[in-house]
Amino acid sequence: MDKIIVWYLRMSVFYFAAGALLGTGMLLWPEDAGYYIPAHVHMNLLGFMSMMIYGVGYHILPRFSGVHIYSPAIVTIQFWVANAGLLMMAISWPFHEMQTALSLVRPLLVLSALLSLIAVVLFTYNILKTIKPMDK
Ligand code: HEM
Ligand code: HEM
Repeated sequence: MDKIIVWYLRMSVFYFAAGALLGTGMLLWPEDAGYYIPAHVHMNLLGFMSMMIYGVGYHILPRFSGVHIYSPAIVTIQFWVANAGLLMMAISWPFHEMQTALSLVRPLLVLSALLSLIAVVLFTYNILKTIKPMDK
């Protein structure tokens, strides 16, 4: 397995543990849970689930097609963009929900969304350029 794929999988399970920990905290302190729901949801679904799919998909889909991945460079760039976006999202979203006066929070959250979107588009492009039916 390529080193970068191992890192996708490591980060995926890291977000799983962090998301589950946050969810448990939300159960223990329900009065504050509302602030953390979007961060919890996206740590689990964009972090654990999507990051796992990025890693497993990049490993397995080219093999199913009998080809190499279209762009290994995109695999690496996407890793950094996706993780920068998600970490920024998980940190800024609770502050956004609390409606803190910090004027930096909304731009940070919007930037995190754009980075996450760019990662999704990079994955989509790289996979679409890679997969093809197996030659018989
Ligand atoms: C130890 C594991 C987990 C705990 C303790 C936990 C706890 C919670 C809590 C307390 C809420 C807020 C519910 C509410 O007040 O409306 C919530 C919402 C949510 N959780 Fe988790 N969660 C866990 C794992 C997960 C995982 C693994 C996923 C997804 C893969 C997930 C997806 C969601 C979603 C989508 C919502 C929002 C539901 C809605 O729209 O109302 N959670 N979770
Ligand atoms: C570019 C990436 C993404 C962005 C910018 C984004 C943004 C958002 C926003 C703005 C909301 C509304 C939050 C609110 O209640 O105020 C939301 C909710 C939600 N998103 Fe995403 N999302 C992204 C990716 C995903 C993915 C990949 C999944 C699932 C695989 C997902 C699952 C959900 C769910 C389940 C909710 C409802 C949560 C709740 O009940 O509060 N999102 N998202």
